[in-house]
Amino acid sequence: MAEKFIIEPSGPLSGSLEIGGAKNAVLPVLAATMLTGDVCALQNVPTLSDVESMSGLMETLGAKTKWDKQSGILEICTSDIHSHEAAYELVAKLRASFLVMGPLLARFGRAKVPLPGGCAIGSRPVDLHLKGFAALGAEVDNSHGCVTVSAKKLKGAKIYLDFPSVGATENIMMAASLAEGQTILENCAVEPEIVDLANFLNAAGGKIRGAGTDTIKIDGVRAMKATQHSIIPDRIEAGTFMIAAALTRGDVMLTNIMADHVKPVTAKLKEAHIIVDELETGIRVRHDSANEIIAADLKTLPYPGFPTDMQAQFMALMATASGTSIITETVFENRFMQVGELKRMGAEIKIESRSAIVEGVDILTGTQVAASDLRAGAALVLAALRAEGSTEITGIHHIDRGYDRLDEQLNKLGAKIKREQHEV
Ligand code: UD1
Repeated sequence: MAEKFIIEPSGPLSGSLEIGGAKNAVLPVLAATMLTGDVCALQNVPTLSDVESMSGLMETLGAKTKWDKQSGILEICTSDIHSHEAAYELVAKLRASFLVMGPLLARFGRAKVPLPGGCAIGSRPVDLHLKGFAALGAEVDNSHGCVTVSAKKLKGAKIYLDFPSVGATENIMMAASLAEGQTILENCAVEPEIVDLANFLNAAGGKIRGAGTDTIKIDGVRAMKATQHSIIPDRIEAGTFMIAAALTRGDVMLTNIMADHVKPVTAKLKEAHIIVDELETGIRVRHDSANEIIAADLKTLPYPGFPTDMQAQFMALMATASGTSIITETVFENRFMQVGELKRMGAEIKIESRSAIVEGVDILTGTQVAASDLRAGAALVLAALRAEGSTEITGIHHIDRGYDRLDEQLNKLGAKIKREQHEV
């Protein structure tokens, strides 16, 4: 049995919502707890199936976890890690599980992780991760679909990333934390989740400076210790609700949100004539009844550019805006999976190479569509809120990977989403 959403048109959403902890922050931090060999307590952990998968993988390596979903506290003890090999079924399920490699290599001098392979949104290689491990002195063997890294002792090095990859920055930063001497990581990713990971590592006794800039300096330490850490709010969940408010011509207040982290989304919404107020208590997003929503062009870029993880949701908004918008995806090569399904709902979208040309239409219509991946799935949910008639979305396990009960949250604001079981 699988689950699907049945979504009826909602009218303008209104009310207030609290944003949960960030998926892309908690996954690397979970991996990083292995560097401590001790008990770490993480707060503000969102209830996501990706977090289940990551903690499940770590349990297969020997970690013990206690997760109180009500309070969002996940305790993890990594003193008894007995395996350095990740199982293929788990890595195939969750690409971020490749992040166990850096911590395992640093703490045990060895790790074997199957290549995560491609996924719906692109080929997603790991060459930059591996170049970084090699620069730290590890032997890297990449054969039979598996990467094995080993080193007697990692040594700090100067590493320049060809592209500011989020995962490579995190994996190398974790490995370098227990290396001998200093590592300087240049042209690295500057995403808020990198800063959150560095904050966790520093709280655990690491010595990292410059996270959030394009040069990070990591002074290796001998050992790390138990710590507590609260995960930052999820800027992509926040951005998704901001667009839900805009698309339904609603008025929504979002709390536990970092205004700085959603700036690129705020800027685009303002360009499209949505009113976004940054208040002390949070961010209020509302429709400007005096102005129709207009088309805005968009290009995804590494932070602080517009996030690729918000591209599909913004496209759903542009599908009913007035005018033509050009949406260009530069981070992943195949991230327009939502286009075919949005077109089935009446959207007018043409793909030309890395750009999608979206002609806004007055009306979208509900039909049966399938979520192909997490953010494409979210975009379909948003479009369905505004569509005429009922929309049925299958493949919602993709949505549950990264949204903590998206249906229930939207229903609190007045959406009409039912979750039903269906045969596959
Ligand atoms: C992370 C996020 C994901 C987000 C992405 C970009 C997590 C768990 N996931 O993914 O939600 O969409 O950042 O913001 O945090 N690349 C290489 N070689 C490498 C690594 C990456 O060529 O070794 C390329 C990728 O194919 C892609 C680009 O770099 O085209 C960005 O990837 P990266 O920043 O590494 O994304 P992830 O860490 O996988």
